[in-house]
Amino acid sequence: MLSSAGLDVTYIPKITNQDLLSMIQEYDIVIVRGRTKITKEVVSKGNNLKIIGRAGVGLDNIDLKSADSRGIKVFNTPLASTNAVAELTIGLMITLSRGIVRGDIGIKQGKWLKHELMGFELKGKTLGIIGMGRIGTRVARLAKTFGMKILVFDIIELSEELLDELEAKIIALDELLASSDFITLHVTLTKETHKMINEEKLKKMKKTAYIINASRGAVIDEKALLNAIKSGSIKGAALDVFEFEPPVSSELVKLQNVVTTPHIGAQTKEAQELAATLLAKKIIDDIPNLF
Ligand SMILES: NC(=O)c1ccc[n+]([C@@H]2O[C@H](COP(=O)([O-])OP(=O)(O)OC[C@H]3O[C@@H](n4cnc5c(N)ncnc54)[C@H](O)[C@@H]3O)[C@@H](O)[C@H]2O)c1
Repeated sequence: MLSSAGLDVTYIPKITNQDLLSMIQEYDIVIVRGRTKITKEVVSKGNNLKIIGRAGVGLDNIDLKSADSRGIKVFNTPLASTNAVAELTIGLMITLSRGIVRGDIGIKQGKWLKHELMGFELKGKTLGIIGMGRIGTRVARLAKTFGMKILVFDIIELSEELLDELEAKIIALDELLASSDFITLHVTLTKETHKMINEEKLKKMKKTAYIINASRGAVIDEKALLNAIKSGSIKGAALDVFEFEPPVSSELVKLQNVVTTPHIGAQTKEAQELAATLLAKKIIDDIPNLF
């Protein structure tokens, strides 16, 4: 799309930081995914930079302050991964409720764990959604089709229409934690959400409840989560994201009631293709304003 629009495109998916620093001055536009960091140094060497494109949602790998101070536009594709992350969240819930990973590992080891794997159904259970933005809303829609009751906590006002459609109830965070069978986090990482699920909050959850995190790792205090699961104060967790990736706490990820995935929320062909095409379109639409 970019070449057809007349741009001269160089594609180096595994560029090193050093090569990026030495080449960036030649380019008007740089596009990255999550791996490549557009640091203050990269921005300052990019004398010709006009657009930084991030094919995805999170902008944690881009120094927004430096970009802003130089008047460089930053484009991302917040909508592209919504469905992919929401489907993974539902998948993680079912994995937890039916012991799918334990069953699979058992069979691979020659063990038939049928009797140990008495599960439970999502139908009729209560799902607490923390952060009812794009992904939280899609999760709610999917969960409703499973017959789950939906509780919501967010800091923004949500439309009555949406809440009616989902038969969802807005409640205070502590009440959500105390009433939900599953709690799923879909907040952005901010000063307020950093470790918002800590020892005190985990204590409010039901002993039988599970927590799922496919947002950003640092939203949960991983040490407190490890203690809560080990002591039986909550049942377990499913984690797609970690404070440090790959995760450093091997004890947490090895617990039987913890299911993990390596930050694959947006790793679907559809989401990646959508991110790429949406971003290319935004850039092409902006070309007349650039030169
Ligand atoms: N696992 C993955 O691969 C993956 C992929 C894409 C996005 N994500 C993450 O998913 C999260 C949600 O993405 P989104 O597109 O739905 O974002 P969004 O901006 O649409 O929604 C975030 C919601 O969180 C709410 N929120 C912010 N601070 C809050 C607080 N203190 N308490 C309660 N609610 C609060 C916001 O009001 C908003 O409704 C982000 O953290 C994003 O980085 C993860």
